[in-house]
Amino acid sequence: MFKSLLALALSLTLCSAISASELIEVKGKTLGRENHQFIYKDKNACKSCHVSGKKSTTDQACVDCHGTIDTIKIDPKNLVNSHANPHASVHYDTAISCIACHAEHEKKAPLCAECHRSWFKEM
Ligand code: HEC
Ligand code: HEC
Ligand code: HEC
Ligand code: HEC
Repeated sequence: MFKSLLALALSLTLCSAISASELIEVKGKTLGRENHQFIYKDKNACKSCHVSGKKSTTDQACVDCHGTIDTIKIDPKNLVNSHANPHASVHYDTAISCIACHAEHEKKAPLCAECHRSWFKEM
């Protein structure tokens, strides 16, 4: 009994370590985010973000699902200090594109890391 509880606890820990930052293979060779896997099940998956069918994306697609940047909370545990919140930064406030920091098909360090080099990791 104890052993199986331990195994369960362990697997839960391992599962929670997988976030959207994990890249997985979707639709053949394309890489996408673990947490966006459900999107790729749709046959028009790519258009969810590439709205006009081009390589480029718009923030509107992200915002339609996630809300605007000022409404998306980041767990403070993931920040170096409470001022280093990239969703409410001293420099840009909310006037900054999602993909200045987030990427879908590759790992990328947020824009802030260009100057505050030790504050942010690739995600
Ligand atoms: C069709 C709806 C949809 C679209 C479009 C979408 N997302 Fe998501 N995204 C989700 C859902 C659902 C999750 C998993 C639940 C969550 O964490 O909000 C997620 C997860 C994430 C996460 C990880 C959150 C975590 O739990 O670690 C990030 C970061 C993210 N999305 C950014 C983006 C960005 C940037 C875009 C635009 C390029 C985008 N998403 C487009 C629905 C969407
Ligand atoms: C200036 C950089 C920056 C910008 C711009 C930015 N983000 Fe983020 N975002 C981050 C960082 C850093 C995290 C924290 C990742 C972590 O938890 O380690 C994050 C976390 C998230 C999360 C996960 C929140 C959670 O549940 O923990 C979502 C969803 C997300 N961003 C979506 C967006 C969307 C949508 C936009 C555009 C409207 C956007 N972000 C703009 C840097 C940014
Ligand atoms: C959740 C949103 C999202 C979905 C779904 C999505 N993309 Fe993207 N895509 C992006 C973002 C954001 C970028 C900008 C840079 C990056 O993340 O690589 C991008 C960039 C690209 C690029 C240009 C970058 C390069 O490597 O040349 C191509 C090509 C591309 N996506 C193809 C696809 C295809 C094909 C699909 C469907 C299988 C798809 N995308 C689905 C968000 C998405
Ligand atoms: C082009 C370089 C550059 C970029 C990009 C940048 N910063 Fe800064 N940041 C600075 C400089 C320079 C200062 C002033 C440092 C000082 O006075 O100690 C500063 C100061 C700060 C401060 C206040 C000082 C402190 O240490 O608490 C915070 C918070 C901060 N930046 C957060 C961010 C966040 C979040 C991002 C991404 C959205 C970002 N910065 C992007 C250059 C940059």
